[in-house]
Amino acid sequence: MMGLFITIEGIDGAGKTTHLKWLGSYFEVRGRQVVVTREPGGTPLGESLRKLLLESDGAIHPETESLLMFAARREHLERVITPALREGKVVVCDRFTDATFAYQGWGSGVSPARLDVLEEWVQRGLQPDLTLFFDVPALVGQQRLGSDRQRDRFERERTDFFERVRAGYLDRAARFPSRIRIIDATPGIDIVRQSLEHIVASY
Ligand code: TMP
Repeated sequence: MMGLFITIEGIDGAGKTTHLKWLGSYFEVRGRQVVVTREPGGTPLGESLRKLLLESDGAIHPETESLLMFAARREHLERVITPALREGKVVVCDRFTDATFAYQGWGSGVSPARLDVLEEWVQRGLQPDLTLFFDVPALVGQQRLGSDRQRDRFERERTDFFERVRAGYLDRAARFPSRIRIIDATPGIDIVRQSLEHIVASY
């Protein structure tokens, strides 16, 4: 495939969405066609699954969550990501499979071996070219989410859940050092953007 597949990760409240928009325009001004998308979501079915996953009131078993995330991902790859990459576009995706390992695996205890099976089934070896992990301590993420807006099902989790999720991301980054780049997202937007620009300059 000729395109470039970039995924953005971080615990809730890390501030990744601000940087995602900048990243899209960074490539556009350099003449690339860019698709900015997200998970769970990115297709009509995926967005319906997102609504179920984020907004349902009752508990959802973590393995069910994993299956739904991968179901949405299969559709997303088929209809959006793979066609765009074949056309040589830059795909910037807000979260991907590292989020399932971090949230459902490390956060909620789903066996990584099961997630490995789903990953292989759904992605058939396709991996992002670059994953930007915006790293903040769980407490900082919680503070950034603030208390004045309604939180979704994941955002309502406690700080120790997000510490596990963060540890999961750091574990993934240690395992896939050439793909996953850690960006310290604790400082202000301008400083984080400089780190980001430094990394994407070589793509
Ligand atoms: P967002 O708030 O970054 O758009 O992400 C939606 C939520 O979904 C976020 O709390 C993380 C969660 N999530 C998972 O738990 N597993 C996954 O595989 C993905 C893609 C997201």
